[in-house]
Formats: sequence, structure tokens, C-alpha cells
Amino acid sequence: MVPVGIDKISFFAPHLYTDMTELARARNEEPGKYLVGIGQTEQAVVPPTQDVVTMAANAADQMLTAADRQAIDTIIFATESGIDNSKSGAVYLQRLLGLNEWTRTIEMKQACYAGTYGLMQARDYVALHPGSKVLVVASDIARYGLHTPGEVTQGAGAVAMLVTENPRIVTLERDNQFKSADIMDFWRPVYATEALVDGHFSADVYRDFFKTLWERYKAVTGRTIHDFKGFAFHLPYTKQGLKALRDILPEASETQQAALLAEFEASRVYNKRIGNLYTGSVYLSLLSLLSNSTTLQAGDRLGIFSYGSGAEGEFYSAIVQPDFKQGLVSGQLETLFAKRQQLSIPAYEQLFNEQLSGAEDRVLDISQDPAKFVLAGLQRQQRQYVAH
Ligand code: HMG
Repeated sequence: MVPVGIDKISFFAPHLYTDMTELARARNEEPGKYLVGIGQTEQAVVPPTQDVVTMAANAADQMLTAADRQAIDTIIFATESGIDNSKSGAVYLQRLLGLNEWTRTIEMKQACYAGTYGLMQARDYVALHPGSKVLVVASDIARYGLHTPGEVTQGAGAVAMLVTENPRIVTLERDNQFKSADIMDFWRPVYATEALVDGHFSADVYRDFFKTLWERYKAVTGRTIHDFKGFAFHLPYTKQGLKALRDILPEASETQQAALLAEFEASRVYNKRIGNLYTGSVYLSLLSLLSNSTTLQAGDRLGIFSYGSGAEGEFYSAIVQPDFKQGLVSGQLETLFAKRQQLSIPAYEQLFNEQLSGAEDRVLDISQDPAKFVLAGLQRQQRQYVAH
């Protein structure tokens, strides 16, 4: 079967952020708890002029050529922060990105897991339809509320991936192990704008799913930790992935343990400064690993662990390709970090309460938002998306 996988990957987060040392002080916590105990240093903040659709469009637009825009015949939009209970975010993307009208568009939801399902659907579709290209986007806003334990784990952003045959970045292996269980660790009823969460329970379930799937993966495939160069974890906060990795590290030699920990550090460079982005988190971690590892080579096997509360987990592997650096948007995150503006805690709190809600017509000030695609307001209950 022809190899299929991620040919291009691109990321977007809004131009605003808060500093976790300042947030810790404002919440009467030791900064060490947020910086080390949770493992977050900064957090993306969403202005009213961005939502999951604009973030997804801003991510995808940076990587697509004119030829890609013609060739894409399926758009899969993964989110748990959707803006409509009926219409999919993918339809907006088709117009904003100038994609071919002969395109399938669909939105998917299962907490932070849906991006992985979208990616696997794309892989299997391209395998059956050689020459097709599928755009998979994972776009979310992680909101727990001011002064909650989850506040330090908020964040936002979108990851866009182009799935093709003979991909430049990684091939997606067919070794997926997955598991679901009806668990109330984190959920958001349709009337709520902030997530409800049983925080410590959710962290325990995450680790339990990882360990169970890792054991099953080894039993089914016959592979061991020695077959892996590195791992990318869903990172609701980066300490969570570190705990999962530490759970299996004793299976490796001392030398490999040090190497895997070094790769893990590479895999969390970006997530530490963005926060949780739900569906996109594990793929931001993969992007971070690909961009920041100094030792990755063609043929290396990476383990990918996707977890979505409620709950579903999936573990699979991906193989690094010779030209993987060419599929990345060069210096993308470094430019984003260099240009974004820090908000004081009072300014962040004010913006937190200014998300677009209600049905009244309004015009938003888009002049302060440097992103290409912005939300300009609401007219007749229709979101007004513009490119500027
Ligand atoms: P908390 O209860 O305030 O924190 O909230 P804590 O008291 O457990 O402390 C956290 C860590 O900091 C501990 O380390 C402390 O020891 C350490 P640990 O025992 O975990 O290794 N600590 C310090 N370290 C250094 N210096 C210090 C210091 N003080 C303490 N001075 C909690 C933590 C995660 C519960 C909270 O942030 C929360 O509820 N977050 C949201 C839920 C979440 O992210 N869950 C993760 C698993 S579920 C998941 O991944 C799915 C999800 O993405 C949603 C989806 O699927 O859609 C969330």
C-alpha cells in the first residue's frame, strides 16, 4: 500500500498571551507550582476577533499552495469549541481558504481526541484514493474560568495538517490501538461556555489509558520501547505528558531514558508557551518535537498518544521522513512568539469576559488584530469573517 501521512503541518495562535509567573502571583500560588508542577510558562489569550474558524483558517493558510487548494477534496474540522450546533466549521474554511467547491466538509467532536480520528480518516481515504489531499484542522479554545484550578491549563490555537500519499513529514502507521469508556472526567454541557472538570480524576484516567494502550500496543505489535525514538503526548499541561512518559521509562536503558527525556523536552517547547489547545495539543507537541529535536532522523519511529476526556485514547506510531523539515513552515512559532503581546492579568481577565455571545448585531474592532482572518462582528446572527 502506498505510504500516506502528514505532508505539511502549520500552527496558529492569537497574538496575545499571559505570563504564568504573573498569573501565579495574582492567584496567590507559588510560581513553581505553575512553572514546574504544571509545566506551563505562558498561555495564549483569545481576543473577541478570533474563534475556532479564524484560527483554523490562519493556520491552514500559511502552508497551502495554489495547487494544494485545488487538490484538497475533503476538509475535516476537529473541535470541541464549535460556533454552531448545525453548520460545520469546515464549510467556512472552504470559502475563506479559497478551496475547490468539489469538496467534502465535516466537523468532528470527541473532546481532545477528534483531531486524531480526523487524521486516521484522512489517512484511510487517501490510501483508497491516491492523488487526493485532505486538510485536517484541529482548532480549540480551552476555557475553565477565572480563579479555577484549571485556569493555569487554559490556552488556544489551531493545527492544520495536509494528508497526502508519499508525505514529506511522517507516514502514519497502521498500528493504532484505541479504547473508549463512559467516564465523567471533563465535559461541557451545551449551555456552558466553560468546561466542567474533575481535575485529579481526569489526570489519573489519562495515565491509566496511556498505560493500558501501551501494554496492548506492545502485545499486538511485538514492539518495545527500544523501537521508539520519541513520543508526542496530548499535553493538557506539559507535566501530564512527563508523568505518562515516566510511567514507561523504567522499560528503557539508562542511556535511552536520557534520550527519551531529551526528546520530550523538545516536544513540549511550544506547548509550554501556548497552553492546552484541546484537539490540536498532541499535534502541536509533534510539531514541537519535529522542530526542536536535534537528533531526529529519517526512519525514526515516534509514538503518538492522543487522549480525549469522556473518554477515548489512541496510541499509534509515525515514521519520520527524509525531508520532514521541508514540510514545516520555517520559523513559524519563533516568529509568533517574537511578535505577540503580553497582557497584564487584569487585561486578560477583561478579555476573558468579552467573548462573542448573544444574538445582537455588533461590530468588532479588528484594527488591533494582526491575523489575516478575523471575526468582524455579528449581523443577523451570522458571524462576519473577513480577511484583512
Ligand atoms: P491543582 O489541584 O491546583 O494542582 O490543579 P496540584 O495541587 O495537584 O499541584 C499540581 C502539581 O504542582 C503537583 O505535582 C504539585 O506537587 C506541584 P504532581 O503531584 O502532579 O506531580 N507543585 C509544585 N511544584 C513545584 N513547585 C511548587 C509546587 N507546588 C505544587 N511550589 C489540575 C491541577 C491538573 C487538577 C488542574 O489544573 C485542572 O483541573 N486542570 C484541568 C484538567 C486537566 O488538564 N486534566 C488533564 C487530564 S484530562 C485531559 O487531558 C483532557 C482535556 O484536555 C480535555 C479534553 O479532552 O477535551 C483536559
